[in-house]
Amino acid sequence: MSQAPRIAVIGAGPSGLYTAEALLKENPDVTVDVIDRLPAPYGLVRYGVAPDHLKMKSVIRALVTTFDDAARVRFLGNVRVGEDGIPGDVLREHYHAVVYASGSSVDRRLGVPGEDLPGNFGSGAFVSWYCGHPDSTRLAPDLSHPGAVVVGAGNVALDVARVLARPAQDLAGTDAHDEVVDALAASAVTDVHVVIRRGPQHVKFTPAELRQIGKLDDVEVLVHDDGVLAAGVAEPAERRMRQNLQMLTEWIENPPGAGGSRRIHLHFLRSPVRVLGERSVTGIELVHNTLDAEKVRATDRHEELDAGIVVRAIGYAGEPIPGLPFDEGTGTVPHESGRVMVGDEPVAGSYVAGWIKRGPTGVIGTNKGDGAETAASVLADLPGLAAPVHPDRDSILERLREFDVEPVDWESWLRVDAEEIRLGEQRGGTERVKIAERDAMLKAAVSTGRPR
Ligand SMILES: Cc1cc2nc3c(=O)[nH]c(=O)nc-3n(C[C@H](O)[C@H](O)[C@H](O)COP(=O)(O)OP(=O)(O)OC[C@H]3O[C@@H](n4cnc5c(N)ncnc54)[C@H](O)[C@@H]3O)c2cc1C
Ligand SMILES: NC(=O)c1ccc[n+]([C@@H]2O[C@H](COP(=O)([O-])OP(=O)(O)OC[C@H]3O[C@@H](n4cnc5c(N)ncnc54)[C@H](OP(=O)(O)O)[C@@H]3O)[C@@H](O)[C@H]2O)c1
Repeated sequence: MSQAPRIAVIGAGPSGLYTAEALLKENPDVTVDVIDRLPAPYGLVRYGVAPDHLKMKSVIRALVTTFDDAARVRFLGNVRVGEDGIPGDVLREHYHAVVYASGSSVDRRLGVPGEDLPGNFGSGAFVSWYCGHPDSTRLAPDLSHPGAVVVGAGNVALDVARVLARPAQDLAGTDAHDEVVDALAASAVTDVHVVIRRGPQHVKFTPAELRQIGKLDDVEVLVHDDGVLAAGVAEPAERRMRQNLQMLTEWIENPPGAGGSRRIHLHFLRSPVRVLGERSVTGIELVHNTLDAEKVRATDRHEELDAGIVVRAIGYAGEPIPGLPFDEGTGTVPHESGRVMVGDEPVAGSYVAGWIKRGPTGVIGTNKGDGAETAASVLADLPGLAAPVHPDRDSILERLREFDVEPVDWESWLRVDAEEIRLGEQRGGTERVKIAERDAMLKAAVSTGRPR
C-alpha cells in the first residue's frame, strides 16, 4: 500500500470512539476521521444516559482521549452519511475502509391499535427529549395527566420511570436543558406504571438501577405481581436476576418510600393490547399473562390504566445502511468479526462496530472489546484493500462542500462544550447545561469564544 491508510468511522458514540482508539493505537501510520450526523460527539453517552446518572457521564473523560492525537484523528460532526446524506460509495473514494458504528436509533413497536396516537412515544424519542437531542426538542410531552405508562423491563424503562417520578429539582443540578427541567417541574404525573410482560424473575434491570428507584425521595415503589412471589418462584441461575428477585420480594412486604406523594408501580405479567384514546392517549388496555414453561400466555383477564402518555421501552433496531446488507429481524448488519458480509463474502472495505453490529444490548464498556475486534479486522485486511481514488486526506472536506455540508470540527465542538460549561456556571451547581437546538449548537460552534 503506497498511501498512508485512511479510515472513516461513522458514528462518534462509544463503539465508534473505541474503534478509532484501537485503530490509532495498533497502527501508527493510520489516520482516522470520526464522522457523526450530530454537531456533538459521544452518541448515547450524551443523548441516552439519563441526566441524573452523572457518574456514568464521566466515561466521557476516557472517550475524549481518542482525539488527543490531533495530527491523526479528526472529528467531522454535523455530517450525515447514507440516506439524505453523504453516500457510502462517495466515502469509499476517500478512505481505504469505512467502519459503520451508527448505533440502533429506531424504536421497536408494540404492534397494537392506538400506537400512533399523540402521547405515545418510543423510548428513543422520549429519552432524546429529556437528553436534549436536537431532533427531539419539539416533542413537548403532555405531562398534565396524573398517570404515565412505561412498557418494558430493561434499564431504559427504569430510566424513563425514574425521570418521570423523581422530584424535578433533582434535575436542576444536571446537564438537562431548561425546557426539560421546567416541563418536569410543572408535571402533574403522580403515578408511573411500568408494564412488564413476564415475571419478577425475568426482568432485565441491573440491580443497581432497580435499587435506585427504591431510594428516590418522596417516591413509593409498589409491586403488583398477582401473588407470583408469594407462591414462590424457582431461583434464577443468574446472580443479577437473583438480586432483583430478592429486592422485589422485600418490596412486596415493605414498599420503599411508603407514603410518598408519587408512585412507581411495577405491574408484572401484563401486556398492552390497545392504547386508549381518540385524539390523544388517555390510557392503556392490558391483558394479564400466565407463564407456561417460561412462555408468556395471555389470559382472558383485562385491565385498563389511565394515563396521558405511554412510553414503550421495548428495545431498538438499527437503520439500514444504503448499499449494505441488513437483517430486518435483528435490525443489524450481518458481519463476521466486524467485516460486513453478504452470505459468505465480505464487502471489501466495509465494517461495523457496536449496536449496529451486535444489536441494542450491552453497557458502554461492552463496546470497547467490540470496537477492538472490528479494528483488528480492518488492520488485518488493510494490505489487500483498494487505495482511495483521491490521494489527498483533505479531499473529503472539498467533497463535503459539494454536498453543501460544512463539518463541525473538534475545535468547533470544543466551543460548544465551553458554552455549555458557561451555561452550567450561570445556572449554578452543575457542570454544564446542554444546548439542545441544532442551530444554537452551530452558532456556538462558530462563535469567537475560545475553547477551554
Ligand atoms: C436510553 C439509554 C440509556 C443508556 N444508559 C446507559 C448507562 O447509563 N450506562 C451504560 O453503560 N450504558 C447505557 N446505555 C447503553 C450504551 O449507551 C450503549 O451500549 C452504547 O451507546 C452503544 O454505542 P454505539 O456507539 O454502538 O451507539 P450510539 O451510542 O448510539 O452511537 C451512534 C452514533 O452514530 C451516529 N449516527 C447514526 N447514524 C448516523 C449517520 N447516518 N451518519 C452519521 N452519524 C450517524 C449517532 O449520531 C451517534 O452519535 C444506554 C442506552 C440507552 C438506549
Ligand atoms: N444504567 C445502565 O447501565 C443502562 C441504562 C440504560 C440502558 N442500558 C443498557 O442498554 C441496553 C438496552 O436497554 P433496553 O432497556 O432498551 O433493552 P432490554 O434490556 O433488552 O429490555 C427490553 C425490555 O423490553 C421488553 N419487551 C420487548 N418487546 C416487548 C413487547 N412487545 N411487549 C412488552 N415488553 C417487551 C423485554 O421483555 P422480555 O425480557 O420479556 O423480552 C425487555 O424487558 C441494555 O443492555 C441495557 O442494560 C444500561
